[in-house]
Amino acid sequence: MSEKKEIKITAAKGRPMLTWVGKRPLRSVTAFPAQHVETFAASEEEANQASPIWKDWPTSYPQGGLLFHGDNKEVLGHLLANGFRGKVKLIYIDPPFDSGADYVRKVQLRGGAATAKIDGENYALGEQIQYTDIWANDNYLQFMYERLLLAKELLANNGTIWLHCDWHKCHHLRCLLDEVFGQDNFCNEVVWQRTFSRAASGTLNNIHDTMLIYSKCKEFTWNKILMPVTENYIESRFTMVDEKSGKLFQGIVLTAPGISKGETGQDWHGFSPTAQGRHWANNLAERERLNAEGKIYWPPNGGWPRLKRFADEVDGIALQSLWTGISPINSQALDDTGFPTQKPEELIERIIHCSSNPNDLVLDCFIGSGTTAAVAQKLGRRWIGCDINKGAIQTTAKRLQGIMAEQSKALQNAAPQLPGMETDEKAPVPAQHAFGVWRVNDYDLKIQRNEAIKLACEYVGIERLASDSFFDGKLGKKLVKIIPFEHPLSPLDLEELKRELEARPELENVIVFVCLGIELSARTWIEDWNRLRKGAETVNKIEVIELRTDEKYGNFIKHEPATGKVAIARSGDKITVKIEDFISPTILKRLDMDAPLFKAKISDWRSQIDCVMIDTAYDGEVFNVVLSDVPEKKKDLIEGTYTLVAPVGKTTVAVKIIDMLGEEVLIQETV
Ligand SMILES: C[S@@+](CC[C@H](N)C(=O)[O-])C[C@H]1O[C@@H](n2cnc3c(N)ncnc32)[C@H](O)[C@@H]1O
Repeated sequence: MSEKKEIKITAAKGRPMLTWVGKRPLRSVTAFPAQHVETFAASEEEANQASPIWKDWPTSYPQGGLLFHGDNKEVLGHLLANGFRGKVKLIYIDPPFDSGADYVRKVQLRGGAATAKIDGENYALGEQIQYTDIWANDNYLQFMYERLLLAKELLANNGTIWLHCDWHKCHHLRCLLDEVFGQDNFCNEVVWQRTFSRAASGTLNNIHDTMLIYSKCKEFTWNKILMPVTENYIESRFTMVDEKSGKLFQGIVLTAPGISKGETGQDWHGFSPTAQGRHWANNLAERERLNAEGKIYWPPNGGWPRLKRFADEVDGIALQSLWTGISPINSQALDDTGFPTQKPEELIERIIHCSSNPNDLVLDCFIGSGTTAAVAQKLGRRWIGCDINKGAIQTTAKRLQGIMAEQSKALQNAAPQLPGMETDEKAPVPAQHAFGVWRVNDYDLKIQRNEAIKLACEYVGIERLASDSFFDGKLGKKLVKIIPFEHPLSPLDLEELKRELEARPELENVIVFVCLGIELSARTWIEDWNRLRKGAETVNKIEVIELRTDEKYGNFIKHEPATGKVAIARSGDKITVKIEDFISPTILKRLDMDAPLFKAKISDWRSQIDCVMIDTAYDGEVFNVVLSDVPEKKKDLIEGTYTLVAPVGKTTVAVKIIDMLGEEVLIQETV
């Protein structure tokens, strides 16, 4: 989708401004094309219904949710280049917090009883890193700065951005947001009590997260939220009884600060607001009307009159900036996906209610387990999600498939409703019944990105440098820069190195790039650069370790893939798919590592499989999920045998099996 191009970015407003070593403005980004890799439609008929809500949708994208696998800097650049500038009503982001930790998910085989006991530990596969939150120096600030600049370009003029963070970087992020959005566009800071009590630590326990809210201008979408009235609230505030009606009421002050020279500054029934430095909040006619209706309370002791606010007239308590009572996700929660740092749906529901309306577009470019997309889908909003981590994309895709399938089932039993119809906030009509998974710049490396970088360092023998803002490690005296494996080493990376070296003339080391692959133009760039550094003149000479082809270091990339044995047959208008066996050498290796004394034995191959998807008319490019088997509980196994409706004529059936470590196996047959 679209050619690679350069997108200009508006400069930050710039007051006040935070500075750090290596701060660089983001003047432009390269927008890479996206590849469509998967689609899911709960019902084709519903998914393709024409609706006015999609009229502003870029024609190059199908109607529906968009889930991008890639680095969000590149994905946001891609969205800007492809018609989404100024289209997003709400951006919620929950980025890494610079917490200095790796976030892992505990991986287990499915099914419990079906699996061999290994060294007392039943079917545990250990931990898998989902994302790393360890940053050298101020890299984190530069990372966030660039994403915020891009996010602002995508935000609608009446939109808002909610940035979720905690004590680690909240103060810095607020400065960044001031700089990017302008301090006048700060809306609120919400404090969410994330947990209750914890064992005492050195000083005070940190039990809250913070959400910083900014807009682009003063007129932004905001829906008031009323919280239910509690008995305690009524009892503590409504302590007086109205003689006439017997109803409980509270007395509200009738004046406001500041002297008025007009009518609201005049004495009323002998009370002089001016003498108190105040004025009447309502005009005289209004006060007289309220008095005639018996709505003014005159204290028997001659105190100031007050407005009677009756308990039965209170329809809710306005939501304030301190949010308590929303519990974090724990392993018992129904919607627990096993993803670390998953946020509760109730929290995101409030945000989406506050800052968007049904059919609006909501974006989360750090989607994790997909909470924002899940809630947006349930509340009838359109959504775009993005994550760099394949595990996060798989988790989000599974979650959304489940929700859309449920919604479709519910709709079949309900009165017909079209997307875009007037919706009831409490039971919104889904804005879409389909979504697609897209990839920006992915090398489709079959192992997780963070694990791959860690492995690369181990295999090449790189000493990780935590203290440098640019270089990732050292190889002897050489400085090493690791290029994220989603994209090849490109001239843009080399220009960045050039700028860094110009700023640090004291560095004379040879530079080693470790990358998965290299663009042809980058090769020419390096040849030209090194031509000036011939013979003994080695200052900043560039060397490249290209892992895909490197005989010495590249071996770990040659990973032994998982395999499946699947029988696919056609009989008339039916197709049957029977998975007969599945084996993942990586899972076996992990089990062996965990229990070196006992040979790992798996009695039911299905325990290695997380989910199965089938496309009955695979075109070799986009996998269209016609059937998905995602067992609901962690202990349930996939079914393994499926019967589907056969398309007319010869067709290629593709079966995608995803194992518990997120490795995908694709088996296809033409029947
Ligand atoms: C705190 S988690 C988000 C959790 C999410 N709110 C949920 O409820 O599950 C942060 C996510 O950001 C992702 N991430 C980190 N750097 C990224 C990048 N450059 N581009 C896209 N995603 C990134 C991580 O992979 C991780 O899934």
